Order: sequence, then C-alpha cells, then structure tokens
Amino acid sequence: MGYADVYAAWKADPEAFWMEQAKAIDWDTPPTRALNDDNAPMYEWFSEAKVNTCYNAVDRHVENGRGEQTAIIYDSPITHTKREISFIELRNRVASLAGALRAKGVEKGDRVIIYMPMIPEALEAMLACARLGAVHSVVFGGFAANELAVRIDDAKPKAIIAASCGMEPGRVVHYKPLVDGAIELATHKPDFCVIFQREQEVAELIPGRDYNWHGFQYGVAPAECVPVEGNHPAYILYTSGTTGAPKGVVRHTAGHLVALNWTMKNIYNVDPGDVFWAASDVGWVVGHSYICYGPLVHGNTTIVFEGKPIGTPDAGTFWRVIQEHNVKSFFTAPTAFRAVKREDPKGEFVKKYDLSCLNAIYLAGERADPDTIKWTQEMTGKPVYDHWWQTETGYTIAGNPVGIEPLPVKIGSPTVAMPGYDVQILDDAGHPVAAGELGAIAIKLPLPPGTLPTLWNAADRFQKSYLNTFPGYYETGDAGMIDEDGYLYIMARTDDVINVAGHRLSTGAMEEVLANHPDVGECAVIGVTDQLKGQLPLGFICLNNGCDRPHEDVIKEVIASVRNTIGPVAAFKLVTVVDRLPKTRSGKILRATMVKIADNAEFKMPATIDDPAILDEIRAALKPMGYAGV
Ligand code: COA
Ligand code: AMP
Repeated sequence: MGYADVYAAWKADPEAFWMEQAKAIDWDTPPTRALNDDNAPMYEWFSEAKVNTCYNAVDRHVENGRGEQTAIIYDSPITHTKREISFIELRNRVASLAGALRAKGVEKGDRVIIYMPMIPEALEAMLACARLGAVHSVVFGGFAANELAVRIDDAKPKAIIAASCGMEPGRVVHYKPLVDGAIELATHKPDFCVIFQREQEVAELIPGRDYNWHGFQYGVAPAECVPVEGNHPAYILYTSGTTGAPKGVVRHTAGHLVALNWTMKNIYNVDPGDVFWAASDVGWVVGHSYICYGPLVHGNTTIVFEGKPIGTPDAGTFWRVIQEHNVKSFFTAPTAFRAVKREDPKGEFVKKYDLSCLNAIYLAGERADPDTIKWTQEMTGKPVYDHWWQTETGYTIAGNPVGIEPLPVKIGSPTVAMPGYDVQILDDAGHPVAAGELGAIAIKLPLPPGTLPTLWNAADRFQKSYLNTFPGYYETGDAGMIDEDGYLYIMARTDDVINVAGHRLSTGAMEEVLANHPDVGECAVIGVTDQLKGQLPLGFICLNNGCDRPHEDVIKEVIASVRNTIGPVAAFKLVTVVDRLPKTRSGKILRATMVKIADNAEFKMPATIDDPAILDEIRAALKPMGYAGV
C-alpha cells in the first residue's frame, strides 16, 4: 500500500487502524477499544488497557533475544568519552535505580523531576520512572533555577534526579547549585534528591535530603515493571506558551507507545537493530520521543550525543558520529546544519567521512530554510526530509512517510499529513479555505494516540489554549497553507512563541522579566530573523519617567536578569531603549508590525494604529543594532 491508501484506510476506520498498530506493543491487558470519546472533546486512547513503557522499551528486547544488542551509545566529544550499554545492562541498571527510588517511597503516579545533561543516566532515570509508573518531568539543563522552581511547584515532585554538572563548550554548568536554588525558591519541597556525580565535578550533598546515585542503590532489590492504565501519564513536559507560565504537556502511556513505535518504520524507515540518532537534548520533546522512547521501544540502538554540531571539536562531528556508529537515520534541527554550513561551506569535512550507512536526514523543530536543505542534500548526497510537529503532538503531524513510500520532496514543505491527523487550514471564522490560501493550521479532533490529552493540573487552560478558538479542532498555533497536491507549508506562529536555535521560547515570559526591572515602565520582546538561529529575541524597553541612569547600565541589567531568571538558552542579548511602543488605539502593542520593520519586510499599516510616527522611532532604534534594513 502506498501513502494515499494507508491514509485513506486510517480515515475510513481510525479505530481499526490504531488497533492494528497496537499489536506491536506488549500489553499486560490488551486494549479492547482504541478511542475513548466518553468525555469528548477530551479524548483518550487505549484507556482500559494495561501496559508498562519500560517493559516495552527494555525488558521485552532482552526476553526476545536482543539482550546483547547495544541499546545506548554514549558519545561525548565534550568530555572525550564513549560508552555502549546493551539492552541487558540497561535492564539491570534501570531495575536497580527503580528499586532504589521505590525504597525511598516513589510509587506509581508520583512525579519525579529529572534535571540532567546528555548522559545515558538521563535515559535511565526516565526509564526507571516509567518502570514504577512514576511520572517524570525532564527539565532542560539550559533553564535557570527559577524555571526549575516553577516546574517544581506545578508538578509537585516527590524526588528530583539531577547530575552534578553539565558541560557546555568552555564551561561547566553547575547543576547542583541550580537545583538547590530552585528548591529554595519553590513552595513545594521534594522529599529527596538523587545526584549523579560526574567526573568533571563532585557536588556537595545535603545530608538527609540528597543521595548519591550509586550509593543509594546498594543492597536494594531491583524493581519489576508496574503495569499502568493506558491513560496513565507517562510524563509531563513543560513547554512555552504565550504567558510566562509554561504549559505542562501530559503524555498518556499507551498511545505514546503505539504511536512512536509506528513512526520508527513508517517515517524514519528503520528496522529493529538499526542505529537511529536524534541530535537533540532529553530536555526537549525530540529527546523524549527520539533519543529515548521511540528507538528503544522499536528495538533500535539510540545515540546519546553530548556535544555541539560545531566546535566539539569541529564541523565534522556529525559525520564522524554517523560513520563511527553506523547511523541509518539521522534527525536534527535545521539550525545545527546552518552552524555546520557556516563553518564548512564547501563540505570539506563531509568528504572525510564515509556516510554510506546513512539512508536519510530528518529536520524539525523550526522552519527548514531552502538554502540549508539544498546545502545538506548537495554535501551529503542524501535525501533530506523536513517534518513538522510540536511538543504537544510528540511526533510528526506532517512529514514524508518514507517507510511506506517516499513522496517527492517539495522544498519549503514538510510534505503531507500523517495518518491520524486531519489537517485543515481555517479562516478567522473557522471555515476551511481553498488550496493555496493562507490560514490558521488546525487539526480535526480527535488528535491521534500519543498526542496531549490535556495540560497538567490545567484542563481549562488546555481547552482555552487549543480547543476553544475552532470548535471541533485542535488549534496548532501555526499558520500556513496546503497546496493542490495536499502538501502543507508552515509559515509562522500565530502567538508570541518564538523559535531560537530550534528551542521554543515565549516572548511573554521574557517581557515579564523585563517588566520586573525597577527602571522599566513598558516593554515588548519580539523574534527577529537570524541567519544562524532562525530567530533571536529582541527587547524594547521604555524607561520610567525620571530615570536618568545610563541606558547601557539598564540594558546590561535586564540582559542579566533574563539569563538568570529564564536561562542562557533564551539567548537574550539584544535590547534597545525607546520612548514609546507602537500600539493600537485600544492599547495592544503591535509586535507583528515591529517584527516586519526589524526584518525589513513589507507590511500593511495597521488600520487601528494609534500613532504611526512611532514606527519611525522603532526603525531608528533598530538600525544601529543591524536590523531594519541596514
Ligand atoms: N545547559 C546549559 N546551558 C546551555 C545548554 C544546556 N543544556 N544548552 C545551551 N546552553 C547555553 C549555551 O551554552 C549558550 O550559552 P552562552 O550564551 O553562554 O553562549 C546559550 O545557552 C544559548 O545556546 P544555543 O542557542 O544553543 O546557542 P549556542 O551558540 O551554544 O549553539 C547551535 C548554537 C546552533 C550550535 C546550537 O543551538 C545547536 O546545536 N542547536 C541544535 C538544535 C537542537 O538541538 N534543537 C533541539 C530541538 S530539535
Ligand atoms: P516545539 O514544541 O518546541 O517542538 O515547537 C513546535 C513549533 O516549532 C511548531 O508549532 C512550529 O512553529 C515550529 N516547527 C516545528 N517543526 C517545524 C517545521 N518542520 N517547519 C516549520 N516550523 C516548525
């Protein structure tokens, strides 16, 4: 069957389609139905079944003869370390860690926050939680203590599992003080912390609260896998929304297993035993789905890469890892290739390596610009597939179903909707528009298995953020179009979310930090186009009347506050002081217009603008910074 047949078969009978895919999972109690629409529009999948994620990702492979196969390859050019962990070793390590967590009181349904860099222990911690039915929430290491505290207060974890440090080029990121600071800031206090002490830094432990990763496992019985209901939360992953409060995306256990397993062959075209590599971070959804769960559930070898596309040690790192570990499918963000291309425009490094093992390259996380796709195609000679998805969906909404049938690539489009997703372009009134016309991208409900059923502790916010604008649809927050051939094009976000180096960030959250500065009266943060990172945040601040401090001082302070409050990952370094911000007559700041001015793009004067002269002031402030058409 080709793609069109598979998609049509799903559309004709989604229940049968997903029940068929569910056969690839080992159930404790197999599902009798796929969709649970009892509480529509809050849908669930495989709710009545019982299953364990860790069993499917690890134990079953040992029982089925893959015990000696490498499950995880750890390759860390930043610490000059390489290690391989077989499925049998992984099973033993995870069972032991889970046993120790259980002995300290962690049970099914308890939350555990994981704050770890790209080391295999991060995956082991995730799997140990899954083994017990505990709900993990991994927090990206580039977030500051305050962001960690916000997540602690929302998830109310029984335990925090962290490493002593992370490694960024040229600096050690001291995780332990960040964990201590976050616990101090948070109202909720975890019962205990487990610290994995890395060679690069041994952190001080607080007696009675902190345990050493190795020490606390001694003499404790390993834990067996605890079967959980299909709609039991596997994890919570916080992501940026419009406001400063992150959204806790919930992932239910059974749909997650069924859907991710399906994608491994049908989208990434790998078979069990093949090596799959997603160069991302466990703190992001790509890391959850394609460094940890997807490949392991499917019986693939996954790579935990602790390094950067450039500088660790050079722009040939990707190609070295692919050759050395026999990678068949490779997935990263376009920004990574933009970085490589900038260092090695002629592809001198590519030529040094044998990439014959590699079948294809997959890009996601942000818009893949045509230049980068073409460069990557030309330099590697491999197909490059863009695909579009979100933290909320957990896997591809639109992509190229290469394992079913590779469709012709149209550069600029992530290709077509995957089975499970009825993607439509709607006008403001919620009516579908004609092919080729721009509109809001929405997905007809129900969303498929594996996507978010709700937000943690915030079912109302879930409905308000995603379901209310277009009744009967999930609002993606992206705008775009579908062409005559059914190819989707993603053009822009419809909210205040920006994408910096493939990292999803909220300009609203940055504005909250700026507004807290005592000298700042008003502010706005926009995402301006950047050749390397796709977008960069740029802040405008209006100082309070009577503030006569040098602008440079205030600018330095607000930059430092964003770094300390949100984290270095915000990459917030551009700020300008202006007298006024452009607004509508009703007082809404015209951020979209400011973006157009900064990017020197054409725009229509908003009909409701209060004072058009302010736009010239904005242009004048941006020019010395290298924006607005310099
Ligand atoms: N822990 C602590 N700090 C981190 C971090 C982590 N896990 N990840 C990033 N940071 C820091 C960086 O060190 C940098 O700090 P600096 O301001 O002191 O230089 C800052 O956060 C911004 O990071 P980043 O935006 O990633 O920029 P960079 O200059 O370090 O690297 C790229 C640029 C393009 C090489 C890098 O962004 C990259 O590899 N991107 C790949 C995209 C990706 O993995 N996306 C995930 C979704 S698929
Ligand atoms: P995240 O939740 O971090 O994965 O970010 C999701 C958002 O990133 C989407 O809503 C899009 O705005 C953007 N995005 C992800 N993948 C793509 C893609 N292939 N093309 C264009 N934008 C993308």
